[in-house]
Parts: sequence; C-alpha cells; structure tokens
Amino acid sequence: MFERPRGTRDFGPEEMAERRKLENILRRTFESYGYHEVMTPTFEHAELFVERSGPGILDEMYTFKDKGGRELSLRPELTAPVMRFYAQDMQRSPKPLKLYYFGPAFRYERPQKGRYREFWQMGLELIGADTPQATAEMISVAYDSMKNAGLKNFRLRIGDVKILKNFLDSIGKNDRDTMRAIDKRDTELPDEIMEFISMNNPEELENHGPEDEVEHYRNVLDLLSSAGVEYVMDLGIARGLDYYTGVVFEIEAPELGAEKQICGGGEYRLAELFGAQPVATSGFAIGFDRTLLALKKDGFKAELKGPDAYVIGSKETISEAFALARKMRNAGCIVEMELTGKGMGKALKKASSIGSKYAVLVGEDEVESGEYTIKDLSSGEQRKMPLEELLSLCPSDKEGY
Ligand code: HAM
Repeated sequence: MFERPRGTRDFGPEEMAERRKLENILRRTFESYGYHEVMTPTFEHAELFVERSGPGILDEMYTFKDKGGRELSLRPELTAPVMRFYAQDMQRSPKPLKLYYFGPAFRYERPQKGRYREFWQMGLELIGADTPQATAEMISVAYDSMKNAGLKNFRLRIGDVKILKNFLDSIGKNDRDTMRAIDKRDTELPDEIMEFISMNNPEELENHGPEDEVEHYRNVLDLLSSAGVEYVMDLGIARGLDYYTGVVFEIEAPELGAEKQICGGGEYRLAELFGAQPVATSGFAIGFDRTLLALKKDGFKAELKGPDAYVIGSKETISEAFALARKMRNAGCIVEMELTGKGMGKALKKASSIGSKYAVLVGEDEVESGEYTIKDLSSGEQRKMPLEELLSLCPSDKEGY
C-alpha cells in the first residue's frame, strides 16, 4: 500500500464541499472589489524565488532539475510568479491592475496541524496604485473575506516596516537578526524596541519619521477606521525578511494556536527586480487551509447535495431508464440512476439515503404508457406523469454549464 507524501492531504467529498464553499465566498469577496483572476504555473525557475528572497529560500523549497538541466522550484507562494507574469506580459495594461489568484503553494516545512508542505493560497496583487485609499482598500478585501466567511474571532494587525526600520536605524539596530527577533516576538528584545513596537495609538508617532510615511500610515489607518474595519496598530510586524517596503499587515485566528496566522501581506517592491519599470505594488495571501480550520471551529459546514431525481429501472427497462436519466440531465436536473441492480425496495431506500428529492420508477407499464411514476421522497406521495411534465420538474437554467 502507498501512503500520501508527508505534509500533503487527500480531500474527500465532504471536505471538498466545504473547500468549494469557502472558495466561492472568497472569490465573491475579491470580485466585489473589481479583482480578476489569473493563473500561473505551479513551478517556476528556482532563480525567481532566489532573486526575491535570497539563497536561504532554497532550503524551504522543492527544487529539482528537469531533463533539460533547468533548475525549477514548486512555487512557495504566488506573488513572485504573478509579478514575473506582470513583468513579462502585462506592463502595458491600464493601471491599477487588480489581479487575484487561488492555487496550491509548496514549502518544505516541518508538517504539523495547520502547517503543510502543500497548501492553498487565495491572494491578490494590486499593481500601480500607492495612495492611502489603495492600501486601505487592499487590506479591507482581506478583512471582508474573513467577515463574509463568518469567522468570529480574528485580529487584524497593521504595521509599517519603513517606520520600523527608520526607528531601528536611529538606534543602530537595523539588521537582519533584530528584524528576525522582532518578527518572532522574542521576549529578549531591548526595552527601547519593546516600547516602540508596543505603541498602539497613531498619535504617538508624532516625533517619529520618516514624515511622509508616518502620514501615509496614519491615513491608511484613518480610512479603515472610518469604514468600520477593526484593527490594532502593531509596528512589530516584520513579515519575515521579505520584500516589503511600507504598510504591512497580518490576520490571526487565536484559536489556531501556533499556526494562527491566516493572512499576511502589505506594500512591496518587486517589479524592478524582475526587469520591469518601477511600479507601486501591494497585496496579500490568505492561508486557505488555516482559514478553513478556524472556520470549522466556529461550526462552518457544507452539506453534500443529493440529486434531484433517482431513476430506477428493472432488468427489462434498463435501456429506457438509462435514456430517461440522460434526458432529465439535459433538461437541467441532477440525476442518479440505480447502477448496482438493486430491487425496488432497496433502490428506494438508497435514493432516500442520498437525499434525492424524487424517485422515478421506470417499469414495463411506464414504458408502455409513456407515463412515469414519480415518488416524492420527503412526502411519500406518488403519482404518474408524462415525460414533458417530468422534465418540467428540472430547474430550467443550466447554471454551471
Ligand atoms: P505568507 O505570510 O508567507 O505570505 O503566506 C500567507 C499565508 O499562507 C500565511 O498567513 C499562512 O496562513 C499561509 N501559509 C504559509 N505557509 C503555510 C503552510 N506551510 N501551511 C499552511 N498554510 C501556510 C505570502 O505568501 C505572500 N506572498 C503574501 C503577499 C501577497 N504579499 C504580497 N502579496
């Protein structure tokens, strides 16, 4: 017997129904802000990610040589691929460009609950707008995503790495180790740093610089407040050692414990690195799997839908039953047919147990008269109807085709 690779998961029908439900809520939210979906390959040249994050990223990626000797990596996230796509093909598109994506990402991490080697991200990139309203709107897409999904307990924290780095510069501590320690919320941090990152009122930033960034940050916060978006100010967000340049944010679901971060993003610069003209960019990615874990703690569920009708034929009428099922499907119904040759009694039980609305009986009498016996499985009521009437029971709009 084979086992699935470490850090990966199989999703059964019930879980897929939940995943699709959440996916649809998030898609609708992103699209309500005018974002359009893009898709990029699941693997890229390894260099793309090394260029973005430095060679250390190689330890965290699935990297391999293809038969042509090219070094490729499964994408650990989708921002670099989307910006590569932008640099390659979309530089002339009217700005701002509002792109969103949903797909798997891969990281060679130590698996645990909420941390996988293959996981899904739903994210967006906003290209060509850096006003406070652009950044505030980008953050509110993430906030509304959680609200619309029904997540009860989450916290949006907003910081600014430019202001943080400016402060660290002023005390001679703007280095990778300090940023890493801040990111991890090391308790050993010096008092002056602790004091700085504990500020929770934008007014306190009065004597901190850089002035234009402080103003930008405060404008973003004001816009969010005025629109009813709840957040906490947190200048201690360092967002790993990544490519962020200004306002950054994270959303956490406290009940998830160690892997509580369900979304992260901010303003960044990558276009020039990938050979494009400089352009303002910001974005975020929602950790789809973690968000679902948090939602399930709140009772998030999706029912598996039963068919509209379950068609039951006999040995003698199989071909008529088979053809009828297909006609009904073409008329817009979801139809299952008895496939294992069960007798009438067992087949009816099966139809009920999978939640079918009707059972359609196709016996020799029915074939002869052209009138089918329909049983309403919730009321138990049974009557005969001709094909036309039967087909009129099917929802006429074929949504989904
Ligand atoms: P990130 O913070 O590295 O940001 O990942 C975003 C989210 O993906 C995290 O908050 C977390 O929920 C989820 N995540 C990360 N690693 C795992 C894992 N191993 N298992 C399960 N979930 C995971 C980015 O990826 C940036 N590209 C976000 C962004 C977009 N910044 C600008 N634009």
